[in-house]
Amino acid sequence: WQPDPELLALAKAAFARAYAPYSKFHVGAALRTPSGQVFSGANVENASYGLGRCAEQSTIQAMASAGERQFTDIVVYSEAVPPASPCGACRQVLFEFSPEATVVCVNQHGEIIGGYVRDFLPHGFRLEHSS
Ligand code: THU
Repeated sequence: WQPDPELLALAKAAFARAYAPYSKFHVGAALRTPSGQVFSGANVENASYGLGRCAEQSTIQAMASAGERQFTDIVVYSEAVPPASPCGACRQVLFEFSPEATVVCVNQHGEIIGGYVRDFLPHGFRLEHSS
């Protein structure tokens, strides 16, 4: 597994913009849609700790808010060893849109954890809907 260079650059830029005064743990993410659009996001914490949002969820929110409904690959950048891997809640959020997308988690040393969304979240939940 290797991170797409453009997505890695965007994820690093988002990492630098993370709002994480409580945990001090920055995460940035970036994804690409089938039409070639790219979206990025960072974790955004809150004084009411439970209201914090992970970088992956910020990124999916940006994508979906722009009207996009699918992504092909997402890169998650952190400066952690091993690299931060999406939390359980984020796995479900990723699964909603693209179970077949690739996930590449990478850190400042180039260490990688990669796989398909469906492998990060086996038996993810789906609700049948018409649109
Ligand atoms: N976090 C993410 O943004 N993504 C991950 O993959 C792991 C955790 C954030 C949530 C919180 O702001 C901080 O990292 C520490 O948990």
